[in-house]
Amino acid sequence: MINLIKVKDYEEASDKAFEVMKKFIEPGKVLGLATGSTPLGLYQRMVKDHKENGTSYKQIKSFNLDEYVGLPITHPESYYAFMHRNLFDHIDIPEENTHVPSGLGEDLEAQARHYDEMIAESPVDVQLLGIGSDGHIAFNEPGTAFDSGTHVTDLAESTIKDNCRFFDNDITKVPTQAVTQGIGTIMKAKSILLIATGANKAQAVKDMIEGPIDEKCPASILQKHPDVTVIVDEAAASLLK
Ligand code: PGA
Repeated sequence: MINLIKVKDYEEASDKAFEVMKKFIEPGKVLGLATGSTPLGLYQRMVKDHKENGTSYKQIKSFNLDEYVGLPITHPESYYAFMHRNLFDHIDIPEENTHVPSGLGEDLEAQARHYDEMIAESPVDVQLLGIGSDGHIAFNEPGTAFDSGTHVTDLAESTIKDNCRFFDNDITKVPTQAVTQGIGTIMKAKSILLIATGANKAQAVKDMIEGPIDEKCPASILQKHPDVTVIVDEAAASLLK
């Protein structure tokens, strides 16, 4: 069941997302976190709330969705670095409670299986998601099996282009592979919070909500999840009926 919330713009989407997220920020909860431009406003609000109201993350765990293959954690565009820069370094979550898949290692598939095992032991209470312009969730590109676990994947051409802005607008610098939680992994989260803003997300939002449940639009599987909140701004909602 998708609970759709329409707001005006990015700022309002971030406010609304914080309102939803705040209910999960309590001892023992497990947060599923995401990277990209979409969650930045939400993370700013979480940091502000921590600093001003003392909301604590000491007994919270987190699992991120994905990481580029081949980028060391010291690379500023690694998702590990992104999460520290934008959230973890500004709240009191213990480093050992945070998990970001590693994009380096001898056997990435074995590491991916281990990641799923860790999530199975600490099921995610709320999974935050953005959506790709091609309908991807995490790096599950169109055609990914709905029952997939965490795995190594090739990035779609459109995703490489979309993410080029983080790599000096130089397409040759964008990693071509990632480790990503699978769609099956994501669907195990008890609640899902997806934020989509901007006109370049409008078609993906329409396909996710009004389209058939089809692997061509990975996000369309969310129609089958029992507890999904989708927050869209006017631009992203512009193609909805
Ligand atoms: P964005 O990416 O937040 O940078 O738009 C979303 C996504 O690809 O999932």
